[in-house]
Amino acid sequence: MSVVIEPMVAADAQRCAELESVLFDGDDPWSPEAFLEALAAGHHYLSAREGRSLIGYVGLARVGSEAEIHTLAVDPEHQRRGIGRALLRAILVHTQGATVFLEVRTDNDSAIRLYRSEGFDVIGIRRGYYRPSGVDAFTMRRQAHQ
Ligand SMILES: CC(C)(COP(=O)(O)OP(=O)(O)OC[C@H]1O[C@@H](n2cnc3c(N)ncnc32)[C@H](O)[C@@H]1OP(=O)(O)O)[C@@H](O)C(=O)NCCC(=O)NCCS
Repeated sequence: MSVVIEPMVAADAQRCAELESVLFDGDDPWSPEAFLEALAAGHHYLSAREGRSLIGYVGLARVGSEAEIHTLAVDPEHQRRGIGRALLRAILVHTQGATVFLEVRTDNDSAIRLYRSEGFDVIGIRRGYYRPSGVDAFTMRRQAHQ
């Protein structure tokens, strides 16, 4: 079955929050309400589906001439299939020439490797950024011209 990437809808919020609690346990996972607020605010959120199952998602906000990746996640049972990269590339289409920033745990080697390979560089570190875990974050940036 093929994976389809399409705009997230309100009905996806519950499933996204379920994946959040699995993938970001200890780092203040988002609730369904947080996803609904992001959608209501007009931010760009995409879902990856296989059949009727939501197996990944990504979210980005435009802030003036800059953009911020809010989240990127793939169901553990579907990781390493290229879905994370496909979601990231699809959301970067919405940056319309903006410089893109994100935060990532300094111990998240998989995500850091993915972001580097898509043009992001580490530009700083935020000590104790994640709560309640207290883990540090790298700030990464992808320049506008890419
Ligand atoms: C990070 C994440 C979204 C990647 O999704 P994915 O669908 O598994 O990634 P892909 O299959 O598209 O792989 C893309 C690249 O990521 C890197 N990568 C992904 N998983 C990796 C792993 N287990 N080990 C090493 N590198 C890995 C590789 O560079 C890979 O490229 P390659 O296959 O050419 O080597 C996924 O691991 C995830 O959901 N992690 C938990 C949530 C999270 O950490 N999100 C990021 C928050 S900032």
